Amino acid sequence: MYYESLLKQMLPAQELHGPSMKSEPAFFRRLEQSMDVARQKRGLMYLKPRWDDSVLDLTTSDFLSLNRTGRIRESFEKELAALGDYKLSASGSRLQYGNYDYLLEVEKELAAFHGAETAWICHSGFFANVGVLEAIPLPGDAVVWDELSHASTGLGLKVSLAAHKLSFKHNSPESLREVLTSLKTMDSDFATGEKSILISVESIYSMEGDICPLRELVAVAKELFPAGNAQFVIDEAHSNGVLGPKGAGLVSLLGLEKDIAIRVHMCSKALSSTGGVILCNQTVRRAITHYSRSMAYCGAPSVPMIASIRAGYQLLRSGETQKQQDQIQEIVKYFFQTLLADPAWEEAMDEDLLWVPLAEDWEGRQVHSHIVPVKVRGGHELSLFVHMLMANMNAYPIHYPIVPKGTGLVRCVFHAHNTREEIDHLVATIGEWALEILKIERGELQNSMPNAMRRAYALQESGWKK
Ligand SMILES: Cc1ncc(COP(=O)(O)O)c(C=O)c1O
Repeated sequence: MYYESLLKQMLPAQELHGPSMKSEPAFFRRLEQSMDVARQKRGLMYLKPRWDDSVLDLTTSDFLSLNRTGRIRESFEKELAALGDYKLSASGSRLQYGNYDYLLEVEKELAAFHGAETAWICHSGFFANVGVLEAIPLPGDAVVWDELSHASTGLGLKVSLAAHKLSFKHNSPESLREVLTSLKTMDSDFATGEKSILISVESIYSMEGDICPLRELVAVAKELFPAGNAQFVIDEAHSNGVLGPKGAGLVSLLGLEKDIAIRVHMCSKALSSTGGVILCNQTVRRAITHYSRSMAYCGAPSVPMIASIRAGYQLLRSGETQKQQDQIQEIVKYFFQTLLADPAWEEAMDEDLLWVPLAEDWEGRQVHSHIVPVKVRGGHELSLFVHMLMANMNAYPIHYPIVPKGTGLVRCVFHAHNTREEIDHLVATIGEWALEILKIERGELQNSMPNAMRRAYALQESGWKK
């Protein structure tokens, strides 16, 4: 079973290394000692073993099932066959030999698909976000970002030349208004348009799973900065392939193509490939070329990478992924209906043991995010994760400081391949866990440690430690 191979890596990864390294070179001992602090505090990051398709998938980014069904590979092989004779490598940066015709042609196609002036393809969405923040804000400018932005935005902020770097409260137009107004008050160059503001948001947030109120945020920026010196960059990592006409994303869904200066699409998720696509106008493209070292001082993407991106986009463009896009919406709605009708969940929600913010008022929403966090009282996320793992389902726990102190969550990601039977199993499994925890809290059980955790530690004790 998958849980055995995962626990075999998960539990030993948290054992302290420093104490047994007294006679080892100080260089490596210090590194391990620093990681021991993490091991003791919140746990050390570790690499997971890969699982097969028999595990109930609540984790992968194969949202449209293009990878598991082999559809992306089929489309990719067709694309390679159509290319005929090709040179595999770009053999240079885009500023030199690496700016080849096929790459430029595919960029034009992607720009047309998304209704953008141009597209720039780079190695990953992570570096696309870093590259934008590195290149676009000029010295003296400001970057304003949603407080729950992805780590790539955090790194981009570190390399950005912007003089002001301010966050606003998650998905809050009122908070954005306050932050933008404070910039205007602080420096009149923002009011006159002598300095610019880049506002960074995401279409669907990785942890909360909620969708950005983009229209409202745009309205605030336009009202406060009529000169057009406040513009947006949106990360469409989770909405690519999932939201909008033919999966073109949130901006296309809302018809805001003309209002958003920069869109970053990721090919590593629904498209089952790799790479970042920056959709922008020619001015931004020129600025990226000139100012972004992370985009210019590296080899350009190889031909197979571009072919795999094109293969994914061929499936979107032809409408062949529409059914999967619709299935995701259906399965998320079924999850909400099922959990809200389950008595164990009702009891656990009444006791504030768990809650699902996205299930509240779900019927009033026209589109649903496929990322649905199940929030739990802080400290319970690990035992819920292990309980689910032992029921052969995989959804990762998220702890403080990624989520606020006193809370934790288990992040459920839904896919076109998730079935109603799987959702029934998921809801029943979480309900079973919740009832066990409530009984432990009321002193109705002999053991104070949840059953799944006891089983996990027993397996560890039985000798697989190293
Ligand atoms: C919101 C968000 N932005 C950026 C990235 C990075 O994208 P990529 O996998 O293309 O590097 C991810 C992926 O984990 C993400 O979830």
